[in-house]
Amino acid sequence: MPYYPDELLEEVRQRTDIVDLISGYVRLERRGANYFGLCPFHNEKSPSFSVSPAKQMFFCFGCHAGGNVFTFLQKHDSLSFPEAVEQLAQKAGVELPKISETEEGRMARSRRERLYAINTEAAKYYYRALRSPQGELGMKYFRGRQLSDETLRRFGLGYSLQYSDDLARSLKKLGYSDEELRDAGLCVYNEKYGLRDKFINRVMFPIQNATGKVIGFGGRVMGEGEPKYLNSPETEIFEKRKNLYGLHLARSSRASNFILCEGYMDVISLHQAGFDQAMASLGTSFTMEQAMMLKRFGRPVLLAYDTDGPGVSAALRALKILRSCGMRGKVIHMEPHKDPDEFIKALGAEEYQKRIDEAENGFLFEIRILRRDYHTEDPGDKTAFGQEVAKRLCAFPDEMERENYLEAVSEQYGIPREALKKQVIAEASKEGLKEERSVKPLAAAQSSRPGHEEHERYAQRLLLTWLSEEAERYACVRDYVDAEDFTDPVYRRVAERMFAEPDKGPPEPAALIDMFSDADEQQEASALFHTRLDAELEGEDREKAFRDIVLSIKQARFDRVKTDGHAGLSEVLRQQKLLEELRGKSSLKKE
Ligand code: UTP
Ligand code: MN
Repeated sequence: MPYYPDELLEEVRQRTDIVDLISGYVRLERRGANYFGLCPFHNEKSPSFSVSPAKQMFFCFGCHAGGNVFTFLQKHDSLSFPEAVEQLAQKAGVELPKISETEEGRMARSRRERLYAINTEAAKYYYRALRSPQGELGMKYFRGRQLSDETLRRFGLGYSLQYSDDLARSLKKLGYSDEELRDAGLCVYNEKYGLRDKFINRVMFPIQNATGKVIGFGGRVMGEGEPKYLNSPETEIFEKRKNLYGLHLARSSRASNFILCEGYMDVISLHQAGFDQAMASLGTSFTMEQAMMLKRFGRPVLLAYDTDGPGVSAALRALKILRSCGMRGKVIHMEPHKDPDEFIKALGAEEYQKRIDEAENGFLFEIRILRRDYHTEDPGDKTAFGQEVAKRLCAFPDEMERENYLEAVSEQYGIPREALKKQVIAEASKEGLKEERSVKPLAAAQSSRPGHEEHERYAQRLLLTWLSEEAERYACVRDYVDAEDFTDPVYRRVAERMFAEPDKGPPEPAALIDMFSDADEQQEASALFHTRLDAELEGEDREKAFRDIVLSIKQARFDRVKTDGHAGLSEVLRQQKLLEELRGKSSLKKE
């Protein structure tokens, strides 16, 4: 993976302070030697996300996300490793070697990089095509929808010509292979005709990720036709669940909120009317991943979904997702119009701003929709409605908030307040007030004892944590422990590196993380440096605990070599001798 030489990575890492970096995204508070904050990678109410200035690493005790400065940016902004390195290098003023655009250089780039490049080239091609004489149809279509030149430019809108392989030929001239064109989802292979463009005679909407890179396309038929929008298939860089159309622009909007709508055209009309905080999901329903991304910005989300039946259902689903991520959504009403595009064409931006200001609280919206299913003139139905409302009120864990909603609903629907309150208490005791759903903390890493078969791994993990924190202990174990004592492949690699140059002492934990390219392995390696002993021990107790850990690791090693037919007798004897020596010591401390 390293792509850039180790020394350069080292330099970028050295010049970037992890506390500074993460403070830009997460509010951190100092607690002892570390900083804590709310984890940006899962939903939680009390901070289990820690940042260690000494180790230059972060770790979440809730969801186990962890790593160094590069890992953080990769995860937070969905960047590839080289992208994260480039971004931090730029900030730190470290010059990276230029990757030249030669054929060779292009081949050497990572797969993801090539996918970005090919999508960017395709976007340029469609953009030019729209402005060429053959693009007249597309231009006419966009004009018909009242898009200005500035809007066409801002969204990079384009057109796919009526020929069946023009894009393919043009990208192949740039050095891309048939396979790459297919993998990028821009072309499809056909037995009879060979490689064909996927998008033919459609107006093209390039889809950009949060940092503005083109990752795919939506192509609309001009007029009637099926499908109305054709979208790029999912690729390594085009993950519909994790991206939002327009977010790269909306994130730098000065508005205090986000507007989430359903369609590409809604986003574009809103931006053209000055609402540059608008974005949309990508032809799929709103996801948890998207909600978590938005949550990091700390701005409320207003829904501007179609006012028809499917739009209302989609809005209810989106509200549920927002709530499960600890956010409260609002709903913008656009009646008598169907969507933001139509509304703005009919009534203009000023009227729309009013609708934004009057956006309805998401919970009250849900209750209002619920109410449609009941004939509340009928006392029986009204009671059933009240019971359902009570059930939903239970979902608010915070008492004051629950009270406020209770009051609002009782007033709005004429449900007697005290009765509603009693019902809420009855419902709550039935289910137990629903607490926020959060990931269970890793028992082994935090406090409680590991299970039986985990014991060995736990001891190995503890030893590595301990060595990384107290370098002087290194000299005490050198004579006893080597990399082969570590059975887990990730631990083994870390240990190999730690024991590689015994005289230099162990390398920094943050540097060790870059040995792993796989995200799961990085996470595993980060957990490794955040393992805690069950109790805070001091003095002799601490020394004894340390000896016990080493002893248990060596005991396990001895047990393994004893039963392993391939280990020679001398190895068995050597391990036995080490074990006996250790047993004879009460502490490993060098005098
Ligand atoms: P809409 O049908 O509401 O389209 O679908 P729209 O964006 O408002 O476009 P216009 O104004 O009719 O031209 C909403 C979104 O659903 C996805 C697209 O992301 C679209 O923007 N969609 C819709 C598809 O992916 N495929 C389709 O066939 C239809
Ligand atoms: Mn629409």
